[in-house]
Amino acid sequence: MQTPERAQPAHQTSVPDLARMRRQYAEEGLAEQELAPDPVAQFDRWFTQAEQAGLVEPNAMVLSTADAEGRPSARTVLLKGVDERGFVFFTNYGSRKGTELAANPNAALLFPWHPIERQVIVTGSVERTGRDETAAYFRTRPHGSQLGAWASEQSSPVASREVLEQRFAELASRYPEGEGVPVPPFWGGFRVIPRTVEFWQGRTNRLHDRLRYTAGPDGWTVERLCP
Ligand SMILES: Cc1cc2nc3c(=O)[nH]c(=O)nc-3n(C[C@H](O)[C@H](O)[C@H](O)COP(=O)(O)O)c2cc1C
Repeated sequence: MQTPERAQPAHQTSVPDLARMRRQYAEEGLAEQELAPDPVAQFDRWFTQAEQAGLVEPNAMVLSTADAEGRPSARTVLLKGVDERGFVFFTNYGSRKGTELAANPNAALLFPWHPIERQVIVTGSVERTGRDETAAYFRTRPHGSQLGAWASEQSSPVASREVLEQRFAELASRYPEGEGVPVPPFWGGFRVIPRTVEFWQGRTNRLHDRLRYTAGPDGWTVERLCP
């Protein structure tokens, strides 16, 4: 005789128990005395370690912006340069992020390096890179990406995928491989000039290390934050 299957509670799914998905964080901590004197040097160290750990696209970062009314938005972009002046990414100036940064030139960047139990969060003001710097980077991009920058009115609605592909095909016949593609006037870099940079290292028992650099008139100061 078959026993009737017991009814499953309505909410049960194949998704694992999210509440139990936690791990004990690394014993290796982050101590004040081992920090580099400035956050860009510290970022360089951690970025190298993220690369050595084999992270996929460690330069992928979540860029948060807000419009003039303070309404936030976020998306991933790629870090394409960093030095004492700041953190650089490239995009379409007419995109949502571009128009938000024109109205409110402040941003946050977050590097989500989960596999090594680290994150870095940068906040600061934003300026456009110079046209020379933009052109120098644009020329390093593959031909297809250069055409893609022209083809896409980033963040605007488009009727169909075919419309995009048609635009791309027209551009490809106008600028065949090997011929210089001009830099689109609506495309370029932004530099986030850091005001604060926080280095977060996961530790056991949720007693994580958080060390935050803040820019001041006499250079950088560092504070430890409660996790
Ligand atoms: C891994 C990854 C890297 C990306 N890198 C960039 C980038 O460097 N520049 C860019 O404009 N968009 C990049 N994008 C696409 C953006 O996330 C986003 O869709 C696009 O810039 C439009 O954003 P907006 O409408 O908020 O302005 C990337 C997306 C992913 C997933």
